[in-house]
Amino acid sequence: MQDQKTQDQATQNKWTAVDRYFSEQLALSDEALDAALAANKAAELPPIDVTPNQGKLLHLFARMIGARRILEIGTLGGYSTIWMARVLPKDGRLITLEYSAKHAEIARLNIARAGLSAMVEIRIGAALETLPKIHAEIKEPFDLIFVDADKANNAEYLRWAIKLSRPGTLIIVDNVVRDGAVIDAASTDKDVQGARRLFEAMGAEPRLSATALQTVGSKGYDGFAMAIVEGDR
Ligand code: SAH
Ligand code: DHB
Ligand code: MG
Repeated sequence: MQDQKTQDQATQNKWTAVDRYFSEQLALSDEALDAALAANKAAELPPIDVTPNQGKLLHLFARMIGARRILEIGTLGGYSTIWMARVLPKDGRLITLEYSAKHAEIARLNIARAGLSAMVEIRIGAALETLPKIHAEIKEPFDLIFVDADKANNAEYLRWAIKLSRPGTLIIVDNVVRDGAVIDAASTDKDVQGARRLFEAMGAEPRLSATALQTVGSKGYDGFAMAIVEGDR
């Protein structure tokens, strides 16, 4: 019998191969997207961008809801940003929040190469400091909010997302399963506790209609939560 580690590696290899197959069959990459990933790698950014098929999923969600105003929390090199911003009409706008000036600079170049600079604004700083400023200055709520930054603050990001929303706004939160650890109430991992606080807040929030999905793929076993804002706020 194979030992557990060997078996897990074989399973991961299969998930990665299937993601690659989707990517090839469905043409889930192009020059700008490939160049962004290459630039991220050259700059030694952590390889935690959404996968191509996840990026396309965000893109399709944005199209389904006719998104004109998108907020992203957690830019990294702008890979997910590019996927979403491509949906926007000429007068559309995507604001993306990034703590690291280095990540933001790589993202700026990647977004420029993708021809999206006019629509995308990167705000550098801790999102919990940037979000109140955005709330104070924006005139229109966001149609789509993608939360993908430090997982420990996810419940707070959800609170801000609701404040920056309208009925019908779609909120998506990445990385809420963490290899299944999300069900471990005793976990000492702050990302896991962040996911648990997120689900507590989501479940208790009457202004949201929410679900969550487990995913497997080249980034392992994880998942995302999504919710629509409803009613009057
Ligand atoms: N959405 C990206 C991946 C984001 S990775 C993609 O799929 O392509 C998470 C990013 O969140 C990292 O770049 C990290 O620097 C940033 N981040 C971490 N803590 C943050 C904070 N408090 N405020 C804003 N960004 C933060
Ligand atoms: C991590 C962050 C992500 O946004 C992701 O998609 C995967 C992993 C992380 O910090 O480990
Ligand atoms: Mg993520």
